[in-house]
Amino acid sequence: MELADKHVVVTGGGNGIGRALCRRFAAEGAKAVVVADVDGEGAKAVADEIGGLALATNVAVEADVVSLVERAVDANGPVDLFCANAGIVVTGGVEASDEEWQRIWDVNLMAHVYAARVLLPGWLARGEGYLLQTASAAGLLTGLGTLPYSVTKHAVVALAEWLSITHGDAGVKVSCLCPQGVRTNMLLGSGEEGASMLLPGAVEPEDVAEAVVAGLAEERFLILPHPEVAEYFRRKADDYDRWLRGMRRVQARFFGT
Ligand SMILES: NC(=O)c1ccc[n+]([C@@H]2O[C@H](COP(=O)([O-])OP(=O)(O)OC[C@H]3O[C@@H](n4cnc5c(N)ncnc54)[C@H](O)[C@@H]3O)[C@@H](O)[C@H]2O)c1
Repeated sequence: MELADKHVVVTGGGNGIGRALCRRFAAEGAKAVVVADVDGEGAKAVADEIGGLALATNVAVEADVVSLVERAVDANGPVDLFCANAGIVVTGGVEASDEEWQRIWDVNLMAHVYAARVLLPGWLARGEGYLLQTASAAGLLTGLGTLPYSVTKHAVVALAEWLSITHGDAGVKVSCLCPQGVRTNMLLGSGEEGASMLLPGAVEPEDVAEAVVAGLAEERFLILPHPEVAEYFRRKADDYDRWLRGMRRVQARFFGT
């Protein structure tokens, strides 16, 4: 997909990777960029900068996602590209509270289900539509020290695969964005060992936007701003037990356990 003259919606567009996507899509000549974020002021600042439309949206609430799509369609016609990008981190392991599990499940996974649920009927009727889902390298490999985050990101990869397989022949395109460290508030503000481990190889949000534009142009399923993730993923598939032993060594180095 080329971005010129396209109607694009980006969730989590008020900051970080989402903001870089909005700016880049506008620069590529998108017809309209809708900036959706639970942080309404952040969304407005980005929309004002690029001449887009800001819509305060909590993607964890299905009625909000439905309203986002309805308002975007009212303003600009059918949505060509929807970027389900908003996300949060919950660190820790199984001890994380049920409330924390539910919170991250709703934002990181159910929001993507809600988006697909409201968009698919129109896209299937038109025979076209593009969903970009921001997962993470933690969804292909694992995120050390962040079990709830890793589980939700694996779920996003599974959802993206399923949608692509099930609706690909009907014209619905799906790409799954799986960055490793990106220098945004999520990474820089976390202060966790797992985050500090990712900092040396971290890229800028603009580098992710560059990889996204290239990946969309090729309509590639897996978009990897860090090419080394493809090699790690291959090694995991080649010999799962060897990969697990290697990950334990990395874990011991950073967490001492
Ligand atoms: N930063 C990284 O290292 C990294 C790596 C891999 C994947 N990701 C993923 O990239 C995506 C964007 O993360 P980022 O790094 O730009 O983080 P960020 O914290 O800079 O931006 C996330 C944006 O999402 C918004 N948001 C959070 N909850 C929301 C909700 N319920 N409804 C609507 N908006 C909401 C926030 O207000 C914020 O503007 C996330 O899905 C994240 O998991 C980030």
